[in-house]
Amino acid sequence: MTDPSASATDGRDCTDDRHVVLVGMMGAGKTSVGRALAAQLGRPLFDSDEMIEERTGRTVREIWAADGESAFRTLETETLLDALAAPEPSVIAAAGGIVLAEANRRALAEADAYVVWLVASVDVLVDRVRRGLHRPLLDDDPEGTLRRMYAEREGLYQEVADGVVSVDHRSVGEVTKAVLRCCA
Ligand code: S3P
Repeated sequence: MTDPSASATDGRDCTDDRHVVLVGMMGAGKTSVGRALAAQLGRPLFDSDEMIEERTGRTVREIWAADGESAFRTLETETLLDALAAPEPSVIAAAGGIVLAEANRRALAEADAYVVWLVASVDVLVDRVRRGLHRPLLDDDPEGTLRRMYAEREGLYQEVADGVVSVDHRSVGEVTKAVLRCCA
């Protein structure tokens, strides 16, 4: 499973009838790859941050500032469960923190979903990630924060992943192909 070009071992093709869920750190490219994958498979895309913003009419940053991280994490769980409950197979770009809650990890394990960890080395993430409106965690010391978060979360991404795809030095198109190979 840790081999970036590994295939699913259960004999089922993820492009058939189950959701494909992309997990990974901020900057790994979940949203861009999710869009490309959804277009290629002709499926809907659920992006958790976008769902939260649409649902609340507020930005991630506004929610974070007004209600705090734990309120944001609750919304994150709700949107994940809703996306996983979609009747048609979809592509789900799950926000970076989705693996933090045990309930989310359990939902991913129990859903009819193939979970792909888009893994990037921390140096690549540091290079790619920009402070952004939806990334209040990176306001101070983005590099140190990313390094600490990676160390804290690596095992959790590993735990939920059915397949792992490296994004280092690869374009969105290359990663998308690798995801399709990984779960076919
Ligand atoms: C977060 C990741 C962000 C966003 C929020 C928190 C995290 O989403 O949900 O800033 O804890 O990793 P992306 O992974 O889409 O950047």
